[in-house]
Amino acid sequence: MNVKCLFDLNGRVVLLTGAGGLLGEQYADGLSQAGAHVILADINYSKVKLIEKTLKLKYNTKPFAVKFDITDKKSIKKMIDLILRKYSKIDVLINNAVDQGNAKLRTTDFIDLPQSSWDNAIKINLTGMFLCCQEVGKVMLKQKKGVIINISSTYGLVAPDQRIYGKSGQNSAIFYAATKSAVLNFTRYLASYWHNKGIRVNTLTPGGVEKGQDPEFIKKYSKKTMLGRMAKKNEYVGAIIFLASDASSYMTGSNLIIDGGWTAW
Ligand SMILES: NC(=O)c1ccc[n+]([C@@H]2O[C@H](COP(=O)([O-])OP(=O)(O)OC[C@H]3O[C@@H](n4cnc5c(N)ncnc54)[C@H](O)[C@@H]3O)[C@@H](O)[C@H]2O)c1
Repeated sequence: MNVKCLFDLNGRVVLLTGAGGLLGEQYADGLSQAGAHVILADINYSKVKLIEKTLKLKYNTKPFAVKFDITDKKSIKKMIDLILRKYSKIDVLINNAVDQGNAKLRTTDFIDLPQSSWDNAIKINLTGMFLCCQEVGKVMLKQKKGVIINISSTYGLVAPDQRIYGKSGQNSAIFYAATKSAVLNFTRYLASYWHNKGIRVNTLTPGGVEKGQDPEFIKKYSKKTMLGRMAKKNEYVGAIIFLASDASSYMTGSNLIIDGGWTAW
């Protein structure tokens, strides 16, 4: 057993959805450092194109920016065709794209929340993950090998503590809690369904990341965690490398919670 080899992603093809977002960009950098060719998939093409350029300059890998809409099966199929033509395989799928709702929606009273916001979140956070797993699953079944990582949130495990948000605008809407909690059992189901097909499926559950929010909110949030602070944006990269690599070869149907201890006391 060689520890470096365990975490090595040299030559692995990783499809990362929502790659243009706050955490996606961090994952893309970390995965590239570990040697992976990262497919930077996002509806925000200009953002992922920039990330592609940076990665090409920094690392000796072949990143690839792709515009796609996770709610559109045709768009997913088209992207997978492109990837297969370029790389002939997909080793890892990370379902990271999300709709968290804008600040207005996140602070709207539950009673007044428009149905369209609920429908949108279901489409992006759940149907999108379902479609990606179906289409990438076909490829992984043929390969008899693959790793899927679905992203949940602290708010998929416990309710947001309504006492800490005040006027910060950092509230999270019910569609976020509902979809992120569904990710957990979606993962278990699929891990069980493909248990003897060489495909491992796990969830990563991150906690809140500090990104210049209202100081009063940061203080209250930090108090909720055992470590007394919010996460830095690069603090989930190690977990992504672990879950994507052979270091987690005996892990499937699981949920890796990294939340500074918020849900543990
Ligand atoms: N940031 C946090 O504090 C935090 C905490 C816990 C969990 N998470 C989870 O981590 C993941 C990443 O979070 P983030 O903060 O980086 O999110 P983000 O909002 O910064 O990025 C999400 C990305 O998804 C893309 N996207 C949205 N709709 C899409 C669509 N229809 N098709 C394709 N792409 C689309 C967006 O363009 C964006 O680049 C999410 O699943 C989120 O639930 C984040």
